[in-house]
Amino acid sequence: MTTTMQQHPTTRGAAIQLRGVSKVFGTGDTKVTAIDTVSLDLPYGELVLLVGPSGCGKTTLISIVAGLLDASAGEVSVLEHNLTRMGGNRKVRFRGANIGFVFQQYNLLPALTAVENASVPLLIAGWSRPKAIEKASDLLASVGLGSRLKSYPSQLSGGQQQRVAIARALVHEPRLLVCDEPTAALDAASGRTVMDLIRQVAVQPDRAVIVVTHDSRVYDFGDRIVSMADGKVVELLGKGQRPHE
Ligand SMILES: Nc1ncnc2c1ncn2[C@@H]1O[C@H](COP(=O)(O)OP(=O)(O)OP(=O)(O)O)[C@@H](O)[C@H]1O
Ligand SMILES: [Mg+2]
Repeated sequence: MTTTMQQHPTTRGAAIQLRGVSKVFGTGDTKVTAIDTVSLDLPYGELVLLVGPSGCGKTTLISIVAGLLDASAGEVSVLEHNLTRMGGNRKVRFRGANIGFVFQQYNLLPALTAVENASVPLLIAGWSRPKAIEKASDLLASVGLGSRLKSYPSQLSGGQQQRVAIARALVHEPRLLVCDEPTAALDAASGRTVMDLIRQVAVQPDRAVIVVTHDSRVYDFGDRIVSMADGKVVELLGKGQRPHE
């Protein structure tokens, strides 16, 4: 085709675009290639599940997408912003405004109550304390913790702490939500509640969600499944398809 390229300002790119992304840890004998030249496009408005065996690079990959780790090679674009070329301070601000995280460990601040923990992203964004506490309280109520707002993390069960962590990740309505094993510590019913919440709040036309999971009970919540092995993407599956286990 030799036609002139038309400008289509309404045409949206991918929510996440990776081009030849690699991540190498260490050097010499201790060198580990955690991510090996991965290229991937993930669209807006979908919940993507990232699956694969322990050590295959899932946490490393989502940490790169979330701007928490720099790639060793390749180009990373998130919400149509090129992270590869973004300086440190801008990246911190971009992350704070646009990305919510739920980690394998809950990472709650032990000296803060549940509602204070959940309000942290709003306080960072400059909300007044009463407004931040009110919004965080509503969200905690919606994950069944309305009666535990003033509990400290040490007074909550693992599953309850995970729900606080999820409320904290969603409270500032980030356009990209990145979750590492959000249902691992939960029973089946709480796991479904959490996945329902993640879908409702985060799956909207200008938003995207990536959930790392070993939990085949939540596969039905995914719009697609990205399957990894040895630092590479080995399979891309649509809704209803299941990865080889
Ligand atoms: N900071 C680090 N320094 C050195 N090696 C690392 C580091 N982080 C991860 N790795 C290595 O990179 C590889 C991928 O690790 P990663 O944590 O991404 O795996 P994973 O798929 O999330 O595994 P799991 O399902 O067990 O959480 C592993 O071999 C791991 O040992
Ligand atoms: Mg991991």
